[in-house]
Amino acid sequence: MTDLPLLADEAAAELRTLGDMIRWTVSRMNEADIYFGHGTDNPWDEARLLVTHALNLAWDLAPEWHTARLTRLEREAVLELVKIRIEQRIPAPYLTGVAWFCGLPFVVDERVLIPRSPIGQMIEQRFAPWWQGSLAQGQPDPRRILDLCTGSGCIGIACADAFPQAQVELLDISFAALEVADENIQRHQLQDRVVALQSDLFSAASGRYDLIVSNPPYVDADDMNSLPDEYHHEPELALAAGDDGLDLVRIMLAQAADYLTDDGLLVVEVGNSWPALAAAYPQLPFIWPEFERGGHGVFVLQARDLRLLNN
Ligand SMILES: C[S@@+](CC[C@H](N)C(=O)[O-])C[C@H]1O[C@@H](n2cnc3c(N)ncnc32)[C@H](O)[C@@H]1O
Repeated sequence: MTDLPLLADEAAAELRTLGDMIRWTVSRMNEADIYFGHGTDNPWDEARLLVTHALNLAWDLAPEWHTARLTRLEREAVLELVKIRIEQRIPAPYLTGVAWFCGLPFVVDERVLIPRSPIGQMIEQRFAPWWQGSLAQGQPDPRRILDLCTGSGCIGIACADAFPQAQVELLDISFAALEVADENIQRHQLQDRVVALQSDLFSAASGRYDLIVSNPPYVDADDMNSLPDEYHHEPELALAAGDDGLDLVRIMLAQAADYLTDDGLLVVEVGNSWPALAAAYPQLPFIWPEFERGGHGVFVLQARDLRLLNN
């Protein structure tokens, strides 16, 4: 691990401005071969995030601020945060306590996965063109939505934001994760429409939902062994899902039809495990959307297709 020079070091004392600090942080992260992928995908954005957080400033400051001088205490605060990021490989959102998803802020800590699912892009598009409303009930928007394996609650809460009339249930097996999900429900003042419940997959689900959306654990055994250090700060329960990564998804496919309305949709992220899933279920007409902002391995299935599986 890199042992970063402390501020007392002559070189660090030469870092006078906010711009100097951001540039220095980028150089140290490049030198230490840091992994990006928890909210940012490059050292410049990551450095801006850490430096502005340490200084209690908005992360999207105008460039004029880059020449602003820092006090000695402010320089120390930045260096301490960067040191922790590099030496302990802690993902930035666990250090700042906030992750952004669908344009909304979510409280995060090491009890939950850091939100990053490409399902966010589908939520922003209100699941068009796949969700077309319920023909039977003449209803354009989903009324009941289930976020299975909710973690921080990001997917279900973003759905509640996109569909202001919907009732949303957030289910997770982890009590620790549910504490964070509850904090996020309160932060977004959604207590009247969103509830978080402890549940082993569907065990606490009741009735039928128009949308079941899930980013479950799906990392296979090979990928688990080669994850960058940053991922090992996330709960293993949120990542690992057996040899082929499909342990939970198999159960979802077997049971989801019992919980979907006739026009309902199942939307599940399986990431790199998608070829194994497609090979294991050749009879299912999976739709695999493409994503403008990156990400892959999310499938959409109609309730009626799932029923074929059970016949
Ligand atoms: C990949 S994380 C996803 C969290 C969140 N949906 C997101 O996109 O950030 C998976 C979540 O599934 C939960 N989980 C694992 N096994 C479960 C089970 N059998 N039933 C319900 N939730 C489970 C974990 O606790 C974790 O919070």
